[in-house]
Amino acid sequence: MTSLPDRRAPGELRPGDIVQLTDPKGRPHTITLTPGRSFHTHKGGINHDDLLAAGEGSVVMSTNGTGYVVLRSRLEDFTLGMPRGAAVIYPKDAARIVNTTNLAAGSRVVEAGAGSGALTAHLLTAVGDQGHVRSIERRADFAEIASDNVRSWFGHLPPSWELQVGDFQDANLESKDFDACVLDMLAPWECIEAAAWALRPGGVLVAYVATTTQLSRIGEALREHGGWTEPRAEESMVRTWHLEGLSVRPDHRMVAHTGFLLITRRLAPGAVLPARRTRPAKGAYGEDYTPAGT
Ligand SMILES: C[S@@+](CC[C@H](N)C(=O)[O-])C[C@H]1O[C@@H](n2cnc3c(N)ncnc32)[C@H](O)[C@@H]1O
Repeated sequence: MTSLPDRRAPGELRPGDIVQLTDPKGRPHTITLTPGRSFHTHKGGINHDDLLAAGEGSVVMSTNGTGYVVLRSRLEDFTLGMPRGAAVIYPKDAARIVNTTNLAAGSRVVEAGAGSGALTAHLLTAVGDQGHVRSIERRADFAEIASDNVRSWFGHLPPSWELQVGDFQDANLESKDFDACVLDMLAPWECIEAAAWALRPGGVLVAYVATTTQLSRIGEALREHGGWTEPRAEESMVRTWHLEGLSVRPDHRMVAHTGFLLITRRLAPGAVLPARRTRPAKGAYGEDYTPAGT
């Protein structure tokens, strides 16, 4: 029901828990435990009450004798399977975002757009009940999907969450003390001024973009704005491996590309970044470019 570690007896399952039943072929089926209900496939049925009684980590037999492994879903399982409006941030990128923004219990973070709420759930988990997550989404229908997904995952709408429908540029954020800002949208360069307003000095801005052209544009727009440290670009790739006896090799298929992260930090008001000592790479700005001061 919640991603936050909660105190329960070892293996205890509770009504409302989101659970994965994995069949002998390794296919997961996700259900929400509801007393009186049953789960059905062509391999027979299982009563939710039997799952509640058996507990997490057990193997429960369906009516036709197929064994299913019973495990509570992790946030990464949930976000990959949950209903989507907009494309979601993959768990590998969400984990990196939480890490690079240095989020911890009590942190304050603002994100736009909320999309389907996948990143939102990771942010809420990281900042905990003492923290604050402000999510801004321009599309009301997507905001509703995000809200439903967050409620499904946590079992309620966390009090640390505020969801606002509208454009981030017009969000009218009342404070400048956010520790982090995450922009996951087509045109993050339109939001630089709003992000600069929202962040405290040293606060971390992450822009998540899908293409190199977006990456170039947001990087140059940040440099031009001047209120930021030198931007850094990266991507994360996770390659799964086939692991069986001596047949140990990378899997043939992988999610090869999701997006790039552009990471920068807010300078204090009035601070000016020292001039770069390194010359731009040849051709980086086209043939007509003359470095400043020459
Ligand atoms: C790729 S989705 C975000 C997915 C989300 N991070 C997740 O993990 O589920 C991009 C969203 O940004 C929203 N959007 C685009 N520009 C925006 C803006 N300026 N302010 C607020 N939301 C915006 C879009 O409506 C869309 O829902």
